[in-house]
Amino acid sequence: MLSPVGKRGLASLVRFPRAIDLKKYGTQARIKVANPVVDLDGDEMTRIIWKMIKEELILPYVDVDIKYYDLGLPNRDKTGDQVTVDAANAIKKYNVGIKCATITPDEARVKESAEYNLHSMYRSPNGTIRNILGGTIFREPIVLETVPKIVPGWKEPIIMGRHAFGDQYKATDFVAPGPGKFTMTFTPDDPSSAPQTWDVYDFKGPGVGMAMYNVDESISGFAHSCFQLAISKKAPLYLSTKNTILKKYDGRFMQIFQEIYDSHYKKSFQDLNIWYEHRLIDDLVAFALKSKGGFVWAAKNYDGDVQSDILAQGFGSLGLMTSFLITPDGKTMETEAAHGTVTRHYREHQKGNETSTNSIASIFAWSRGLAHRAKLDGNSKLTEFTASLEKATLDTVDKDKKMTKDLALAIHGDSLTRSHYVTTTEFLSLVAQRLKTNLNQD
Ligand SMILES: NC(=O)c1ccc[n+]([C@@H]2O[C@H](COP(=O)([O-])OP(=O)(O)OC[C@H]3O[C@@H](n4cnc5c(N)ncnc54)[C@H](O)[C@@H]3O)[C@@H](O)[C@H]2O)c1
Repeated sequence: MLSPVGKRGLASLVRFPRAIDLKKYGTQARIKVANPVVDLDGDEMTRIIWKMIKEELILPYVDVDIKYYDLGLPNRDKTGDQVTVDAANAIKKYNVGIKCATITPDEARVKESAEYNLHSMYRSPNGTIRNILGGTIFREPIVLETVPKIVPGWKEPIIMGRHAFGDQYKATDFVAPGPGKFTMTFTPDDPSSAPQTWDVYDFKGPGVGMAMYNVDESISGFAHSCFQLAISKKAPLYLSTKNTILKKYDGRFMQIFQEIYDSHYKKSFQDLNIWYEHRLIDDLVAFALKSKGGFVWAAKNYDGDVQSDILAQGFGSLGLMTSFLITPDGKTMETEAAHGTVTRHYREHQKGNETSTNSIASIFAWSRGLAHRAKLDGNSKLTEFTASLEKATLDTVDKDKKMTKDLALAIHGDSLTRSHYVTTTEFLSLVAQRLKTNLNQD
């Protein structure tokens, strides 16, 4: 890596400037939070929204020690990406991370040299963080009454957990140039066990082939994260596989989930009146479309990749999709909006033009992260505050009919006019007003 710094650990020596002057809020009447949360700042339009959320919706009400890490691309570059590693370790230590969307540099970004002058094509921060924390990433839509859904029957969220390890994503595939034998061999490390070989296919002409794998440890971690989440959401859990075809491969997923359920979670599920079931992927897709939502879906790597985009579209807008990572012990959580940095809007903002970017998923990243802090600390006042913040956000759309352009477009389609939506800043101010009013009434 062409780091300008070339020293690991530098980020821990650099004092990152806090984006916000905390002193102005004082400590009176704010909800005291015993333990810190880790704030991972990001890029472009979402970075602008992020600062406003903290200033207008969180810090006036919550007295929390924020461990701030600037994951904006310039600072990732300045620290040779060490800041991302430091932030992940901080989440490990404090158990709560709240993350703004960040740019994952690609060739085009590296070439935007006037703006970023990048020294390296850094990895996705989400990938780095996940590698350090482990765990499963879930996506959960925010359901609004006012916004029509492509699948109108969905009244409650479908929360999807994708097993982001192995299968097609780590497969070895090849093109067979002509006739030949495709075999597969497993050679045990134990020299007393003989290798096993399977005849896969006798090619009579050109074709393609593939071998892939997964490991019990990763499947078990995935299963624990899913069971933990279902319990915390008080929602049933379905695992989808194609075990009728992949009897051994998908059968192993099914077996591990069942064993873990029986030995660790059955009682808790029964007490909550929720259930765990395995379903064939085709059955579950059909069931999901016909259902009103309200369940957790544990999906294998490829199924999760495909189906999570269907869910995102089906529930209305990208601006309504949240994402969170949970470790298998259920203790550590990192929350964020599922969408990116909304570059297109940021370009308009840079030109001084009006923007109407939906901040709902980013607000929920804060409310869900703080709710997890509240749960770990047993802080009921903080739990109540996070519920008020979410209610104020939803009421601004559902009751006051004030929303950003993406949602207005979903409602009005071709007959959309400027009066149907508010700007990025106006929306956040309206949520702030509602929150203030709601909290004063309580
Ligand atoms: N989790 C993350 O940090 C994350 C996720 C995805 C993309 N990214 C990064 O974000 C940058 C931009 O990526 P992109 O343009 O492909 O995806 P994006 O999600 O930022 O935006 C894609 C389009 O979706 C719509 N959209 C998304 N979020 C919206 C919101 N909150 N309000 C209104 N409309 C919204 C807009 O039309 C936008 O042009 C890239 O650099 C990418 O690497 C980061």
